Amino acid sequence: MTAAGVTAVAYPNIALVKYWGKRDEQWGLPVTGSLSMTLDCFPTTTRVAPAPGARADRVIINGQTAEGAARVRRFLDLVRTLADRPEPAMVESVNAGPTAAGLASSAAGFAALAAAAASAYGLRLDGRALSRLARRGSGSACRSVFGGFVQWHAGTADGPAGDAGSYAEPVPVGAVEPALVVAMTDTGSKAVPSREAMRRTLATSPLYRAWAESSQDDLCRLRSALRQGDLGTVGEIAEHNALGMHATMLAARPAIRYLSGASLAVLDQVASLRAGGVLAYATIDAGPNVVVLCARDDAPRVAAALGEVDQVRSVHVAGPGPGVAIRQGEGR
Ligand code: DP6
Repeated sequence: MTAAGVTAVAYPNIALVKYWGKRDEQWGLPVTGSLSMTLDCFPTTTRVAPAPGARADRVIINGQTAEGAARVRRFLDLVRTLADRPEPAMVESVNAGPTAAGLASSAAGFAALAAAAASAYGLRLDGRALSRLARRGSGSACRSVFGGFVQWHAGTADGPAGDAGSYAEPVPVGAVEPALVVAMTDTGSKAVPSREAMRRTLATSPLYRAWAESSQDDLCRLRSALRQGDLGTVGEIAEHNALGMHATMLAARPAIRYLSGASLAVLDQVASLRAGGVLAYATIDAGPNVVVLCARDDAPRVAAALGEVDQVRSVHVAGPGPGVAIRQGEGR
């Protein structure tokens, strides 16, 4: 490792109004805007060191030379083009959460990679520009550039002209103290990668357009519920939006089904919690794990109830976490 390496740390985010579908694949432009909470657990720590003497990029993820590192290499090519520097890089990344199990590991991964690579190659980017860069690696990564609640604006134009208008920024929130309780049902890799699943949903699901339209409305209502600190409405919108997204996939050809029996058992438990007077609402990404939004004070009770579900392997309580940061003392 050379002295010029830069290390960045980023956290995953969970969307309350989801991103599902691109209008422009090459530029990573989404069909709809989305809004997430950055977590304070499962960080990804990534070090990038330009290696002038090397013949190719070397990518090590969780201590192992990464087989599927083509996406990382393509992303580094983008950084090299922007920085007008040709050197390959040595990349080492450690992910504290389960990779590719629907827990937003690509979001933390590409946010950390974008920040470390931009800095290591001498690009000076503000938060908004960094979010646009991270977006090119993985859409949801643009939101992990910021902490707390974050909106990713879809923008309107396509191609290079659409790039500037599709960025993330923090959103104002009222007096809310939320927690997200993660119920892990399965930490294995997913059967259909989300990128492929999105493509198929857009191309074949008759429900997709309806969801995308109602998502815009969800986004407006979510922003105002957050501003008012109305956690119940925030949760209701989040659960509605996520189940709608899964409905679009179930109606794709062939169907994509990330929800497992375990996911449904957790959804039942969330409904029981609500029936018992606890404010708790579920959201689910492209995998079987369920994330439950509740008030911070209720998190121990919600976590205990989710832990009682047979197929739940582990439960983690997360609060709002920070945006991506260069590890002090190691940046340049
Ligand atoms: C279900 O950001 O992983 O988590 O842009 O193709 O890399 P790519 O997709 P990715 O998709 C995340 C989808 C989601 C919803 C969300 O995080 O908004």
